[in-house]
Amino acid sequence: MKEGKEKSMGITYFEKERIFKLDTKNTSYLIGITDEENFIGHIYYGKKLEDHNLAYLLRTEESPYVPSVNARDRVSFLDSFPMEYPGHGTGDYREAAFRVKTQAGHTACSLSYVSHEIFAGKKEIPGLPASFAKTGKDGKPEGCFTLELLCTDSVLNLTAVLSYSVFEDTDVIARHVSILNNSENTIWLTKVSSMCMDMDNREFEAITLHGSWARERHIQRQKIGIGMQGVTSGRGESGHQDHPFIALVTPNTTQDTGEVYGVQLVYSGNYEFRADVNQYDSVRLQAGINPVDFCWKLEAGAHFDAPEALLTYSASGLSGMTAHYHDFIRQHIIRSPYKDKKRPILINNWEATYFDFNTEKLLAIAKEAAGLGIEMLVLDDGWFGARSSDNCALGDWVVNEEKLPGGLSGLAEEINRLGMKFGLWFEPEMVSPDSDLYRKHPDWAIAVPGRTPGRARNQYVLDFSRSEVVDGVWEMMERVLSSANIEYVKWDMNRPLSDLGSAALPPDRQGELSHRYMLGVYSLQERLVSRFPNILLENCSGGGARYDAGMLYYSPQIWCSDDTDAIERLAIQEGTALIYPLSTIGAHVSDCPNHAVGRVTPFETRGYVALAGTFGYELDVTRIPEEDRKQIPAQTAMYHKYNDLVREGDYFRLASASENQMYDSWQVVSKDGTESLVTFIQVKGRTGQRSRRIFLRGLHPDKKYRIEGEDGVFGGDTLMYAGLQVAGLWGDFQGKLIHLVQV
Ligand code: DGJ
Repeated sequence: MKEGKEKSMGITYFEKERIFKLDTKNTSYLIGITDEENFIGHIYYGKKLEDHNLAYLLRTEESPYVPSVNARDRVSFLDSFPMEYPGHGTGDYREAAFRVKTQAGHTACSLSYVSHEIFAGKKEIPGLPASFAKTGKDGKPEGCFTLELLCTDSVLNLTAVLSYSVFEDTDVIARHVSILNNSENTIWLTKVSSMCMDMDNREFEAITLHGSWARERHIQRQKIGIGMQGVTSGRGESGHQDHPFIALVTPNTTQDTGEVYGVQLVYSGNYEFRADVNQYDSVRLQAGINPVDFCWKLEAGAHFDAPEALLTYSASGLSGMTAHYHDFIRQHIIRSPYKDKKRPILINNWEATYFDFNTEKLLAIAKEAAGLGIEMLVLDDGWFGARSSDNCALGDWVVNEEKLPGGLSGLAEEINRLGMKFGLWFEPEMVSPDSDLYRKHPDWAIAVPGRTPGRARNQYVLDFSRSEVVDGVWEMMERVLSSANIEYVKWDMNRPLSDLGSAALPPDRQGELSHRYMLGVYSLQERLVSRFPNILLENCSGGGARYDAGMLYYSPQIWCSDDTDAIERLAIQEGTALIYPLSTIGAHVSDCPNHAVGRVTPFETRGYVALAGTFGYELDVTRIPEEDRKQIPAQTAMYHKYNDLVREGDYFRLASASENQMYDSWQVVSKDGTESLVTFIQVKGRTGQRSRRIFLRGLHPDKKYRIEGEDGVFGGDTLMYAGLQVAGLWGDFQGKLIHLVQV
């Protein structure tokens, strides 16, 4: 190591220049410390650089704002300086990354650098989901390094640790912030962002994901302008409506070209993502817990951990960001033993029976399904307490033996005898007003004293900020899960939080409820996966209202949407796959007319769309048309043939029906480039359109490929640059799979 240069693989500290350089495979991130007041400035994030001395980008020498020379215009200086983690109220009038309130009622705060540490691997974040490093054969972390910048507000005696972890194998930087109260006084944190980044605006456009129930994660793109723009959730969950993700892209960015800055949170509760453009046309990008209703009491000696943020930069368009996030989530977020495994093809009884089922009906479905190649029956809502509709019994996690004589163990045994696995639905966070649990513990529901809490789907939310509530639910769940051979759990959550009030929290801690609720949910999921490590967990929230990297830390897959219509799913799965790997996308073939939109689509097309996910069925296999049922053995074989590729390969978006209104196409390519699967869905037939050309991606340009079932051999370069002609299909909603193998 050269003098004055402290290096730890991906992270280097240049002591003389007081610059930190963080390098991933293709990106660099530079941080500088100013003279005098030791402000931590953001210098650069983008394409990988050789040079490190880019301090000129901090503009600290631009008179009259020269902190090392005079303090004459400190306020003006602070209002334009690209601060790495800005405080509030001392001259920077832009949106602060963190805010406080002191006992004296003051709100000013400002951080300065004190020291740093660079080490291999990364620390866990207590109670929160977070990315992790790989472990080498020697048990030591591999390919991951962390920089911790220790900074302080010496007036408040508050310490912040800004931590940055770089991962060698992916172009992602994980950021985390921890705040410690070193003073003798209580202080209230009213905002703690997980990341902040100041950049010159480059006519950025923001890409965000939006929707509604059964219409999640549609992609929106718009130019950002002066002022604030962003996405938030105050629903206590990531939500159907918005999504904990934003990307800023340079104008005209396509799948292949343009620069992309992506940010997502490893968090499932309330969030705020904002891009503020200021008077100097610089943009401050932030992500973290939504400050609305947030107020955390930090007693002397206590600390607060903000959720982790995942940053990525791509110089090669959206597909670069997608690839980084897919690989990162598969390798550094999902822990489940199922993450690299084929998941059993399941059949879920929800759209088949809703609440109208009994053992006989379930076994009839299972018997028929087993003969068709389906591998697991999942019993959805309605198996417990007096649950005969969605009006009652949530919280009473005891099997209803009237519906299921012999209980779950008898049912599971019967199903196992058919050669199938058995899975079960829960909604642990909820309670029905008409339930034994609520009658016994009315104070366990979230509510404001004196105000009747609002119902949604006729249910209340349990106060998971209280450990006794979490324990009480766990006891019931554990009993059920130990009572039968249950190999899969679907964890549902069917309403957002409202009427925020906890019967257990003191008045000055009520502002902690939403975050403490999430910590309670995470703790229960952790108990579930550690006590039953072989259970395959699928998260769900009224479809896809809690689809985020936080949940993927516990479950390798998430039910993507309650809209199972193949055509509606195109936009939903396109938006989801923009940042999440296909291996996480819960997708099933359902019956027609579709229960959400009434559309009729070919059974074959429904299979192709579900194939770009975990794959399963959501129908009564004893009652669907014979010509559909006959297709199931071939469909299940198709899943087995392609799932390794879909689950582990690189994903490319080739065409978007949301943009062209006509057809959708995506492709997966094996990591070694020797095999690829292209899916083409013709949403609308059109006269005169005999064929369509699509340009493949990710192949070896100098290798030859054969298309299964067709004559001839094509060069990878031909398929990518000249394109592949997909013959016209007859009718709307038609689909085609194209399988290529290198020769
Ligand atoms: C919402 C889920 O998304 C559905 O799949 C189903 O499990 C219902 N809840 C059951 O209430």
